[in-house]
Amino acid sequence: HSVAVLGAPFSKGQKKRGVEHGPKVIRDAGLMERLSNFDFSVHDFGDLNFQHLEEDEPYMDVKFPRTVGAANKKLSAAVRNAVSAGHTLLMLGGDHSLAVGSVSGHAQHSPDLCLIWVDAHADINTPMTSPSGNLHGQPVAFMLKELQDKMPDIPGFSWTKPFLSSRDLVYIGLRDVDPGEYQFLKSFGIQYFTMRDIDRLGIQRVMEVTFDHLLARKQRPIHLSFDIDAFDPSLAPATGTPVNGGLTYREGIYIAEEIHNTGTDHYSYGFHFLWSFLDFLKVFDCLAFESNLSSSWCAGLLSVMDMVEVNPDLGASPEAVEATATLAVDVIASSLGQTREGAHTSMDEIP
Ligand code: ARG
Ligand code: MN
Ligand code: MN
Ligand code: MN
Repeated sequence: HSVAVLGAPFSKGQKKRGVEHGPKVIRDAGLMERLSNFDFSVHDFGDLNFQHLEEDEPYMDVKFPRTVGAANKKLSAAVRNAVSAGHTLLMLGGDHSLAVGSVSGHAQHSPDLCLIWVDAHADINTPMTSPSGNLHGQPVAFMLKELQDKMPDIPGFSWTKPFLSSRDLVYIGLRDVDPGEYQFLKSFGIQYFTMRDIDRLGIQRVMEVTFDHLLARKQRPIHLSFDIDAFDPSLAPATGTPVNGGLTYREGIYIAEEIHNTGTDHYSYGFHFLWSFLDFLKVFDCLAFESNLSSSWCAGLLSVMDMVEVNPDLGASPEAVEATATLAVDVIASSLGQTREGAHTSMDEIP
C-alpha cells in the first residue's frame, strides 16, 4: 500500500485570496513527518501548476468558469492516474471547487465509488440557485446525474459529465444550506446529517447510518471530501466561509477514524448482509493483516481524500493559522489509521 500526496494550490472557485496556500501550510504543519510514522510508503507528487486565464468573463453569475474548469480538468487527470497506479490519494486544496476534478478523476478509475462530504455547506448550488456565483459552492451539482437537466453548459466544463447517483452521497456537518440546495437535498432524498442531527443522534450513530447507507449492499471505494469549515470556527478559524456551531475536535477525529476502520475488523457492517465472495476475500485479507499483530497497514476503503478550504491569509494570528493547519493534519492522520489507543509494534522496537 502507498499513499500519494498531491497539492492543488487553487483559489478561483471563490473570491478570497490565500486559499491557494493551503497545500503549503498543511505541509508546513508537519504532514509528511506525520505520514512517515505509518507503515505505508508515501509519494509526494508535489503541487499542480494551474493557469490563470486572462479572458474569463462570468457565465450568468458564475465567476472564472474557464479558469476553474481548466484547473479541474488537469486535477481530474492527475487523480485518475494516481488512483490507477494503486495509490490512496490525498489531495490538498485549494478551494472546494476542486472536488469536481478530484471526484471525477477518482470515478473514472472507480465508477462504483461513494462520496462522504464533510462540510458546513452542501456545495450543491447550480448557477441558477447560487447566491454568490462562487463555484466552490457548486461542485456537487456537476457530479449528480439527477441534476443533469438543471445544469447549463458552463464554459470550461465540457470535459466532464455527471457520474454520481444521489444515493451514493452522504453529507455530514451541514448547518448553512441555501434554499435551492435544500430543495435538491429533499427532492433527491439525499442522506444528510446536519449539526442538529449530530446533536440528536451522536456522531457514533451518524457514522453507523452513513456506512449502512453506502456500504451495506457492497464494499466499495470511499471518496472523502473534507472541508475544514465543517469544524467549529473556534478550532478552524483560517477558512473563507466559517459558520458557528461546527464539529468538535473529537467528532471530526471520530469521523476520520471510522472511515479508516471500514473494511477492517473494527467495523463489521452487521451480520445481516450477504457479502459477495470477492468482497469477503478483500475484507478477510485486511482482517488477517490486523489480527496477527504484524504492523501491516490496512487501507480500509478510503481511496481518495480531499482536504480543502484552509486559508492562511484569513487567520487572525499565526497561531490561528497553525491551529487550523494542524487540525487538518490530525484529520488526515486519523483517516489513514492513526489511533487514539496506540498501535502494535514488533517487540524488538521496544527498548
Ligand atoms: N452556499 C454558499 C455559496 O454557494 C457558500 C458555499 C461555501 N462553500 C465552501 N466550499 N466553503 O456560495
Ligand atoms: Mn464549507
Ligand atoms: Mn465545501
Ligand atoms: Mn487499522
